[in-house]
Amino acid sequence: MKRLVSGIQPSGTLHIGNYLGAIKQWVELQNDYDCYYFIADEHVIDTKPRPVDLRERTLETVAMLVALGVDPKNCVLFVQSQIPEHGELAWLLLSFTTLGQLTRMTQFKEKSDRHGQSVGLLGYPVLMATDILLYDAEIVPVGEDQVQHLELAREIARSFNAHAGQTFTEPKPLLTKAARIMALNDPKRKMSKSVPGSAIGLLDDEATVTATIRKAVTDSDPNSNKMSPGVENLFTILEGFSTPETATQFGDKYKDGQLKYSELKEQLIEDILAFLGPVQKTYKSLLARPDQLERIIKEGTAKARPIASAKLAIVKKNLGLLS
Ligand code: ADP
Ligand code: TRP
Repeated sequence: MKRLVSGIQPSGTLHIGNYLGAIKQWVELQNDYDCYYFIADEHVIDTKPRPVDLRERTLETVAMLVALGVDPKNCVLFVQSQIPEHGELAWLLLSFTTLGQLTRMTQFKEKSDRHGQSVGLLGYPVLMATDILLYDAEIVPVGEDQVQHLELAREIARSFNAHAGQTFTEPKPLLTKAARIMALNDPKRKMSKSVPGSAIGLLDDEATVTATIRKAVTDSDPNSNKMSPGVENLFTILEGFSTPETATQFGDKYKDGQLKYSELKEQLIEDILAFLGPVQKTYKSLLARPDQLERIIKEGTAKARPIASAKLAIVKKNLGLLS
């Protein structure tokens, strides 16, 4: 089976955009690939989260992934900071990355105007490349916003291989159909936790889900016969949570000009709530058992670490560092 790696930051409550754009695919891929999934906790240090919050969010993210169907028996689920090889390799890879490559990154340009921004944000894609190259991943499922970082990981691998001999595999991105779920209150923007009213959180209650969907923007341009971006987005979400039959049925109604948006919204509310109910229940029961969560993390670390340390040993040898 081909090796696949992907990570997610523990940066707060996850939303349906994160689920449809990333985690749903993680769950599906578990059966076809040798999957390594991790919580990228060292990736959020540049935002300087309160230490108590970071700890809590890391455990919450592990619990949420498991509740969503990431199965520690069917993949290696670990926490980045528990594998010190990531930090060590990142240092070595910095020398195979140019300043120009990093300042060109869209994410860096978008976020670097913060006063007093650390070098951590600039170097972030190098740590991401490390996460991937350390495990010889061939495939990396990511959202559209990460494709540029993945291309950089390939460039770093090439530059290293050219200097020290064939060492790293060049990874390829794998994009989902729902790679970009748009904000419910503004379908021109990406659904994001940092935009209020834009998202449905995976921990939202029934009243919040209902209100957010009912308020979702569906406006269309009266001069256009194309589906409006808001409605298109609702259809993408419907495809993510409903059965294919339901999605087809609503699609047909739309084509026949028979679709009432209120009906589409009620169907969405029903299907999203049916999905979230059991997920929230499992999530809560996992969080109530921190010993079980810690065991999951320990077992994941025990599986990932030998691979990381064996790879780092090869890297150091190829560079001429003493072993
Ligand atoms: P946010 O934008 O809410 O801060 P993150 O940047 O932490 O979300 O993203 C975590 C993961 O979820 C990434 O893999 C990202 O590509 C994916 N993701 C985030 N927002 C969306 C979205 N609106 N549509 C699809 N995927 C998304
Ligand atoms: N940068 C990714 C994000 O913001 C998270 C991430 C870190 C990642 N390391 C990774 C994703 C390695 C894939 C592979 O979503």
